[in-house]
Amino acid sequence: MSRLLDWLAEGSTQSPEAVSAPGPDSQPRVPVLLSQGLNKAFGQGETRTLAVQDVSLSLHKNELTLLMGPSGSGKSTLLALISGLLRPDAGQVHALGEEMWTHSNIELERFRLKHCSYIFQGCNLFPALTARAQLEFLFADEPTSALDWENGEQVIDLLHQAAHQRGAMVLVVTHDSRLVPYADRVFHMEDGRLVSEETPKSPSQPVLHQLHQEAIPLAKPTFQPRRVALSTLLQEASA
Ligand SMILES: Nc1ncnc2c1ncn2[C@@H]1O[C@H](COP(=O)(O)OP(=O)(O)OP(=O)(O)O)[C@@H](O)[C@H]1O
Ligand SMILES: [Mg+2]
Repeated sequence: MSRLLDWLAEGSTQSPEAVSAPGPDSQPRVPVLLSQGLNKAFGQGETRTLAVQDVSLSLHKNELTLLMGPSGSGKSTLLALISGLLRPDAGQVHALGEEMWTHSNIELERFRLKHCSYIFQGCNLFPALTARAQLEFLFADEPTSALDWENGEQVIDLLHQAAHQRGAMVLVVTHDSRLVPYADRVFHMEDGRLVSEETPKSPSQPVLHQLHQEAIPLAKPTFQPRRVALSTLLQEASA
């Protein structure tokens, strides 16, 4: 975790005003990851659950995309399917000119090591995580759920910079609506399907803190059962 945060923080010492962030306003949108007709079911017979149903989407370089929806709607499953961690029952994922799910498991592992990084809930990090100069895909599942907002804001700020300053495709699964002002696009899922897509206003503008404060006026959560300081998580992750 600390290595990823170091990597993300490199070059992020400029004041927000000094950043001329690339993004949808300033350059063409480049799709780098496309899914077509993804399906995934768990269980059999009466216990069979269609976790992801016929999901097609495209994700772009230089963009931070959120995937939101109720618990059990299929967000984590979809993230796993499109990030090469879970084989779909049907459908394709096209990434960097390759059909991901035509690869053998070893080829897939190489692909993940080379191109992907993962941040999971509770900061259990995928072993492939290293501080690389080039990172095409960054996948995060509930990256702020164990953090107070001060630290959560730092994390989403860094994820935004990974997209806008380093050109990565960043996909974040979250329940946290405070992340919306940081996103270029927000997909909503229900019952395994994508039901809507929105484009929050001016996500690439370098005024994120201001935007956030306008949207959510300093309301402090009264109850945070999983409140953990980021410094503690970093110590645990690097131990
Ligand atoms: N390994 C599994 N075995 C059986 N069922 C599963 C498995 N993983 C997910 N499911 C089921 O698939 C559906 C989608 O689960 P998923 O974890 O993708 O939802 P989610 O939107 O990420 O939920 P949450 O917000 O609670 O994390 C749920 O009904 C879940 O119970
Ligand atoms: Mg989940």
